[in-house]
Amino acid sequence: MDAGVFDQWAARSLAQVEQALDEWTPADAPAGLGEAMRYAVLGAGKRLRPLLVLAAAEAAQSSCEAALRAACAVELIHAYSLVHDDMPCMDNDVLRRGKPTVHVQFGEAQAMLAGDAMQALAFEVLTPDGGMDAALQARLCRLLARASGHAGMAGGQAIDLASIGKSLDETALRDMHRRKTGVLLQASVLMGAACGDVSGAAWQSLSDYGAALGLAFQVVDDILDVTQDSAVLGKTAGKDQACDKPTYVSLMGLDGARAYAEQLRAQAHAALAASGLENTAWLSVLADKVVDRDN
Ligand code: IPE
Ligand code: IPE
Ligand code: MG
Ligand code: MG
Ligand code: MG
Repeated sequence: MDAGVFDQWAARSLAQVEQALDEWTPADAPAGLGEAMRYAVLGAGKRLRPLLVLAAAEAAQSSCEAALRAACAVELIHAYSLVHDDMPCMDNDVLRRGKPTVHVQFGEAQAMLAGDAMQALAFEVLTPDGGMDAALQARLCRLLARASGHAGMAGGQAIDLASIGKSLDETALRDMHRRKTGVLLQASVLMGAACGDVSGAAWQSLSDYGAALGLAFQVVDDILDVTQDSAVLGKTAGKDQACDKPTYVSLMGLDGARAYAEQLRAQAHAALAASGLENTAWLSVLADKVVDRDN
């Protein structure tokens, strides 16, 4: 497919996401909280998760407003997870999305509260007062809650911090990476699919696609931490080794990690092919972008 066609779709989609996030992230939250939330979520980031939601919604032949709400909700959870991930009690980072981290800019307590408020806002965005089917609201909330909490991101982050200085075997490392990063990316795909009409085998195929892509994403994050500059990443390079974190690079070496990312790319494409769905072109491009990205 012509790369320009995807780029046009992505630019159009991201403009809608940006506008909606701008509208829904309150400037007037008390005592400067809104400023910290807006600083954390607006105007930067690759927006991969919203694109996955919207691409899966197209594969599922959905054109509903719910997909835009789902896209913004996932990005709010992701952006909140970055704010907390960067705090001194976690990875202690000073640079994020090319700017000083939220706790550097606004203080630790405000960063913690901004993250808390963004998490709550995500679920508010998914549950508008009218105009959205109640069963779909509940289903989207459940998918997002499950991916964000102990079974997903927060659980994975707990394992990450408990693993400092340890060398995990491949099974344990995969479990940590799937939870801390993979499950939210997989949920992005499934939330998009839930907005349309997908069930049975096709749903399972999209879930397999999301699992492969989600794990590939964190394998590549580990690689880029070693190979890329802070200026290109927009966050501090070399942090994993400096903090003695177990990663795919520490487990397999750079070449091994790259080969594994290729294997996962192939798995993601195979799952899409098995889905039997017709409109999977954007999902296919996104799998390649996850593996080929340089930031
Ligand atoms: C970084 O995610 C954190 C991880 C989950 C590894 P992204 O690389 O998607 O960060 P942004 O959204 O583009 O800033
Ligand atoms: C973080 O993983 C995953 C999150 C849930 C935020 P990392 O700690 O590797 O993410 P970066 O490298 O700081 O973006
Ligand atoms: Mg971390
Ligand atoms: Mg980090
Ligand atoms: Mg990282």
